[in-house]
Amino acid sequence: MSTKYESRNTKYVFETVTKSIEETQQFGERLGALLQAGDVVALIGELGSGKTTCIQGIAKGLGINPGVVKSPTFVLLRDYSGGRVGMIHVDGYRLEGEGQAVWLDVEWMFSTRKVTVIEWADRVAGCLPEDYVELRFTHKTTNQRVITAIPHGPCAAELVARLRTEGTQNKF
Ligand SMILES: Nc1ncnc2c1ncn2[C@@H]1O[C@H](COP(=O)(O)OP(=O)(O)OP(=O)(O)O)[C@@H](O)[C@H]1O
Ligand SMILES: [Mg+2]
Repeated sequence: MSTKYESRNTKYVFETVTKSIEETQQFGERLGALLQAGDVVALIGELGSGKTTCIQGIAKGLGINPGVVKSPTFVLLRDYSGGRVGMIHVDGYRLEGEGQAVWLDVEWMFSTRKVTVIEWADRVAGCLPEDYVELRFTHKTTNQRVITAIPHGPCAAELVARLRTEGTQNKF
């Protein structure tokens, strides 16, 4: 179902440019601090665009040790606990086409008691819930990344609005 939040209308979108790994992690941490159990973040962007780096920051924002976050490429899914809220980290890279997404345990993946972050979410697009935050990563220069948060659904719209309006001391 289409809602007004699904448009790329800049009114609903948050965009930032990070200039280092640390800045991408800081952005992730700020987003992580806003996330609640049941929230879903779909990360989309080419190889090396900063998805895992950002998820390390999200983990920190959730109170999870960011040092333990690694790309789950070969296991499809990692489940982290120990923070304010648990985090499920999914990597769709090896799932070519929606058909292969049947390998994912969707009930586990979208636990309402945890936050779910999905790398290469475009490869599991058919599995995504109605309400989620899309995070787009693009290379600007060698060390600069454009990160765009696009809300899909009313909860995501509220979250992205908070990214835009809160924490003005830290622009990431
Ligand atoms: N501003 C930046 N933000 C994040 N990473 C950066 C930045 N500038 C340079 N980098 C480099 O880009 C790479 C990002 O790697 P990362 O694993 O986070 O990407 P990814 O999108 O998860 O890749 P993959 O698709 O392979 O999983 C790292 O090697 C990092 O050093
Ligand atoms: Mg990665």
